[in-house]
Amino acid sequence: MAQFFKIYFLNFLKTVSKTRDVKISRAVHTYNNNYFGKYAIVRPWLVSEKIVIPAYIPQPSYSETSIPEKDGPITPEIKDEYQIECMRQSCKLASHILYQVDTLIEPGITTDFLDKQVHDMIIGNGAYPSPLNYHGFPKSICTSVNNVACHGIPDSRPLQEGDIINVDVTVYLNGCHGDCSAMFQVGEVDSEGKRLITITELCLKSAIEICKPDQHFCNIGNVIEDIANKHNFNVIPAFVGHGIGTYFHGAPDIFHFANNYPGRMQPGMTFTIEPVLSQGMTQCEILEDGWTACTVDNSRTAQIEHTILITNDGCEVLTLYP
Ligand code: MF3
Ligand code: CO
Ligand code: CO
Repeated sequence: MAQFFKIYFLNFLKTVSKTRDVKISRAVHTYNNNYFGKYAIVRPWLVSEKIVIPAYIPQPSYSETSIPEKDGPITPEIKDEYQIECMRQSCKLASHILYQVDTLIEPGITTDFLDKQVHDMIIGNGAYPSPLNYHGFPKSICTSVNNVACHGIPDSRPLQEGDIINVDVTVYLNGCHGDCSAMFQVGEVDSEGKRLITITELCLKSAIEICKPDQHFCNIGNVIEDIANKHNFNVIPAFVGHGIGTYFHGAPDIFHFANNYPGRMQPGMTFTIEPVLSQGMTQCEILEDGWTACTVDNSRTAQIEHTILITNDGCEVLTLYP
């Protein structure tokens, strides 16, 4: 019914514009003002050519072939002091670069521009942008705007006032991946968008607070879903946190919804927590590009990610800035 009305209305507008010579502006300037708030519904735009990496940058096994040479471990790995120090360095670089993104965000810049800037910062620090060609991903970062829940591909769409955007930065340095993401607001964001971001931050913070030796992995999801639901948001189950090290993704799976996944945390484990919360439905559709995941009801989502290390008496957030 809504769809019928939209088509009817657009045809009506066309008739008006023909008769009065009024131009209909491009979709970029239209806002959706619905139950979920006031924001633009986003669809992919044009994706630019692939960037070539200088030969002196140490590259992960998939950089040419798109497929990692080895799978990640199937049981959680315990890292020694040397491996932990490598993780500290790659995570520190990822978070420092993510922090710089804030200074770049403004209405009118494209996510392609963001990708190029972040790409140059990563290469400038002697690291490799982990997403690039990982299972064929075409760019160096993921940029997910409004109704794009995850794995958005940087493209030629200019950011517009009111957008909320997740930027996900992963770097490969010293043979280790460091992975983090954050939400950014473009100009003035409506109150529901702001609330969605605040609650997602609260979910991640509360989950990190319970991480310590002997804690069940599943309690992360139990904490996150409980808080999300109390604030009338929903956890998107399709996107999970993961073990990380010389591999981008490996055991354990970190579910962000109520679950009873087996296993407990032990000192020396490193993994990510990266909940995606939705204002509406939790079902997502993957678009033809094979990556972009949009909510089926076009509701907005927010995601935040940290890589953490389990220590002897708690945990250390490796991607904390500064
Ligand atoms: N950084 C994402 C994560 O948090 C993974 C991106 S994979 C890519 O796990 F191929 F889309 F880049
Ligand atoms: Co991750
Ligand atoms: Co990430």
